[in-house]
Amino acid sequence: FIQVAVALAGGYLLGSIPFGVITTRLGGAPDLRSIGSGNIGATNVLRTGRKDLAAITLLGDGGKGAVAVLIAWLATQDNTLQAQSVMTALAGGAAFLGHLFPVWLGFKGGKGVATFFGTLLAAAWPVGMLAGATWLLMAFVFRFSSLASLTAAALAPVYVFVVGRPTPIAYLGLFMAILIYVRHTQNIRRLLRGEEPRIGQSKRAEA
Ligand code: G3P
Repeated sequence: FIQVAVALAGGYLLGSIPFGVITTRLGGAPDLRSIGSGNIGATNVLRTGRKDLAAITLLGDGGKGAVAVLIAWLATQDNTLQAQSVMTALAGGAAFLGHLFPVWLGFKGGKGVATFFGTLLAAAWPVGMLAGATWLLMAFVFRFSSLASLTAAALAPVYVFVVGRPTPIAYLGLFMAILIYVRHTQNIRRLLRGEEPRIGQSKRAEA
């Protein structure tokens, strides 16, 4: 029980570090809330014109998910594979929730895509690689960050089964995918209306 509580609390605290907000503040870039989609993620940091800060945000927001999973994995080495998978899934899921609902920002966080990738890469790297490749391919072809994220999220649970990873990791993938869809409601509306800006294109402030 203590292990579960530590995995959840530790994962949440790690996940709630808002790298986009921190890097743009330190880097003297505009406030993310007042530009583009208003989101705190790497895609919106890119809209400040600062590729360097966007890259740090992507690595930071992804890295915190990976670190949460790796710590849980290492701390449960003596357990069965099933128990280890449950613990890593809990820690990764908690980090993801931390990014979406960070205590430091009044629980108003991001959309979770970078953290989803980092968590998956650490919990089941072939799944993370496949999901990452999906994002890159979709972004390359259509040039919508959100559409690339939504496609990668939808396919991630499928990839877990294809690659044959333990069930808790499949639940983790499904859990994150569902929340990514919930968080992208505005993006989905804009995509359907043909109003979603493409990568590298600035857009008016909108939720
Ligand atoms: O990572 C979030 C991405 O899928 C969309 O970001 O800023 O265009 O809403 P944004």
